Formats: sequence, C-alpha cells, structure tokens
Amino acid sequence: VVKRPMRAAVLTSSDSGYAGEREDLSGPAIKTMLEENGYEVVHTVLLPDDREMLAKEMARIADEHVAELLLTTGGTGFSPRDCMPEATMDIAERMVPGIPEAMRAYSMTITPRAMLSRAAACIRKSTLIINLPGSPKAVKESLGYILPSLEHGLEILT
Ligand code: MTE
Repeated sequence: VVKRPMRAAVLTSSDSGYAGEREDLSGPAIKTMLEENGYEVVHTVLLPDDREMLAKEMARIADEHVAELLLTTGGTGFSPRDCMPEATMDIAERMVPGIPEAMRAYSMTITPRAMLSRAAACIRKSTLIINLPGSPKAVKESLGYILPSLEHGLEILT
C-alpha cells in the first residue's frame, strides 16, 4: 500500500467497448487492484482504438495534473486497429522501457505469447503512463508483478 496517497487514472482502448458491444472488464479490474493498493482512482475513461483520441486524452491527463499514474489497457497487440503504444509514444517526453521489459519477462514465464505485447511506458510532466495488455487475465498478471515497484518511481517523479 502506497505511503502517500497517489492519484491514478485508467484508460481503456476498445472499439467494441466504446460501441457498447462488449463490457470492459479490464478497466474495472485495474481500478480494483489500484484501490486495494492505496491509490485513489480519480478518472476512468473508455475510448475507441483511435490514435489521436488516445494521445489527446493521455496528454490532457498529464498536462492538467489529473493523476500521477495513468494505466492503459488494450490496443497493444497486432490487430490493425491496435495503436496504444503509438499513441503513447506520440505524447511521451521520456521513455521508460524497463517497465514493459519487466512485464514481458515475467509474463513469458506464464505464456510465450507475452512476446506479442507491444506495450510501452513513458513519463510526461509528472505522470507515469504504462500500457497494460487487453485481457483481464493479462492485466492482473502484469500489474500484479510491477505494482510493488511503482511506488518508488512515483515518489521520485512527484
Ligand atoms: N501477458 C500476460 N501476463 N498474460 C497473458 O495472457 N497475453 C499476451 C500478451 N501478454 C498475455 C500477456 C497476448 S496473447 C497478446 S496478443 C498481447 O499481450 C497483447 O494483448 P492485447 O492485444 O490484448 O493488448
């Protein structure tokens, strides 16, 4: 559990979720895990797999100091519409490659398909932005692994 309260935002990228054709289970799973670890989840948002819309919302969250931590889910695979890493790099000021490297290394012990995740992480202003995979299972595995190490990074960043 984080020592000082950190604010978090959750962004889901899903065409079918945005169209109301599929329930977003990953966004709420992230919210629950964050709250269990002492974060205040101040903002959750569901957008289609649209690079410009995703980039604009991520930049806004950082530039308006909405949250210290922004976790995204979805859009990191190989589908033609998957563009979350590109949207993240569009608005990045500094890349944080170690976090996706760690998620993939750990996830490779669960499934070799973890190598298919194109997730990125970056810093913009004083917000740490991390792409998580799309499925609730992958979200729980990846976030569970990195969460204990994030607090130290956020303490230095903010
Ligand atoms: N990571 C973990 N820990 N567990 C998983 O089941 N699935 C992988 C990978 N990372 C997986 C994982 C798969 S099958 C894909 S295609 C990529 O994440 C990208 O997922 P996304 O397209 O849902 O974003």
